[in-house]
Amino acid sequence: MSSPTPQPVTGPLSPEFVPFDIDAIAGHCGHVVVFAEADSGLPRAARRIDKLTRGAVSRAVASADFAALDQGGALVLAWPTGLQAERVQIVRLGSRPDKASLRKAGLSIGKALSKTPALICADATALPDMLQAAALRAYHYQAQKSDPKPDFGPVTVMLRDIDKAPDCADALALARAVHLTRDLVNAPANVLTTTSFAAQISDMQALGLKVEILEEDELHRLGLRAMLAVGQGSDSPSKLAILHWQGAQGAPLAIVGKGVMFDTGGISIKPAAGMEEMTMDMGGAAVTVGLMQALAERKARANVVGLVGLVENMPDGRAQRPGDVVRSMKGDMIEVINTDAEGRMVLADVLWYAQDRFAPRAVIDLATLTGAIIIALGHDKAGVFSNNDALANAFLKAADSMGEGAWRMPLGANYDKLIASRIGDVKNSGGRPAGSITAAQFLQRFVKPDTPWVHLDIAGVALTKTDSAHAPKGASGWGVLALDALIRAEFEDG
Ligand code: BES
Ligand code: MN
Ligand code: ZN
Repeated sequence: MSSPTPQPVTGPLSPEFVPFDIDAIAGHCGHVVVFAEADSGLPRAARRIDKLTRGAVSRAVASADFAALDQGGALVLAWPTGLQAERVQIVRLGSRPDKASLRKAGLSIGKALSKTPALICADATALPDMLQAAALRAYHYQAQKSDPKPDFGPVTVMLRDIDKAPDCADALALARAVHLTRDLVNAPANVLTTTSFAAQISDMQALGLKVEILEEDELHRLGLRAMLAVGQGSDSPSKLAILHWQGAQGAPLAIVGKGVMFDTGGISIKPAAGMEEMTMDMGGAAVTVGLMQALAERKARANVVGLVGLVENMPDGRAQRPGDVVRSMKGDMIEVINTDAEGRMVLADVLWYAQDRFAPRAVIDLATLTGAIIIALGHDKAGVFSNNDALANAFLKAADSMGEGAWRMPLGANYDKLIASRIGDVKNSGGRPAGSITAAQFLQRFVKPDTPWVHLDIAGVALTKTDSAHAPKGASGWGVLALDALIRAEFEDG
């Protein structure tokens, strides 16, 4: 495995807090951030810069461009006279900003950060949300460059009352977890294999997570034959990785992730155009692993177990064929219509194993499962399928609070007709109509009826071709924030 991106010691993921020093502002070389609102007086730092620049800040704040900004939007003064700074970023923020505006402000700041040192002249503004959003947006995947350049310079936050500085550690730990998820999704499949991914997961024991890696012989013994069938054409051994954060007693919440390291389609091979994107087919596993890191780092008072099925879907002399029938761990006989509908075969067994072993109080799975969800919802919202309205609504609320798009999709017994099998119990593909729903119906067969369950089809949101809300184009890390918020709201003690 090539060297992972080193954790920066400075930069947006670990800003330094210093006491307010009005005289340091004029001498700061680099990027300076101040906050302002049109119809109220300028805060102290903005006022000082206004004076040094002979009114440039107040002219900017009075401009039509500033008036056109949303709360949290920003404009930039470049190479301002009277300061050492390269640029002053003026962020529009009223005196009592809501959470969404603060996050928007953070995204504006994060987007403008560069390798030049940044000085954020924050007053008492609620920092955790803002700094988290800035850290989320300031991301650049360079692990595969021969000559990686330094990304981001140090970030210093100037505070009026340093003793009352809010604790931003958890908020920043979450941003680091999202970056981990993105690094995993962006990594090529020759670099991140089932073996190297499992090794990286094992290293997370250092955070206090309990980690188990089940190898193929064990998976055979346990009967996870649907999952094994997907991986049988690959030289990379299939593995089931289990990460357990036991921060509370009682039945755990289980998070299940699809970890197809690369999806060629298998014998039902995909067309060449765009196939390189299928390095992201382990996106569900990457979100699961990022989330587990976040829970461990912030010592969540919740009992959560993450299970990721790691396989590679390759065509080969030993690969499964269309027409094969395989017995799942549950016992249902799956007729393989299309070897490209592999994710649901992996999840069928991992979902069953999760319930069989852990008797969880709820199960949430994440998978880059269907192209059909992209046709339905595009790249803005993930598909949410559930057998439980309360859990689904709690998830939708959590996702909305963090600015991650999600939309409930239907389930229904009538869709089962599309996947009824003549020779086995169920087909792994129902063809094109309602493709993401029949995939979810397939999964539901492997969920016990009294287990609250949410299935998140993240095929459209895991990787984007344009900048997304929190990230530059590429892997988004969608889901880590929403699931962490859900766990805080519904699964955490005290
Ligand atoms: N990994 C793909 C789904 C996918 C497509 C993810 C595009 C991201 C972007 C999945 O394994 C797949 O191939 N699904 C098939 C299912 C079909 C054969 C029933 C699909 O969506 O075409
Ligand atoms: Mn596939
Ligand atoms: Zn796939």
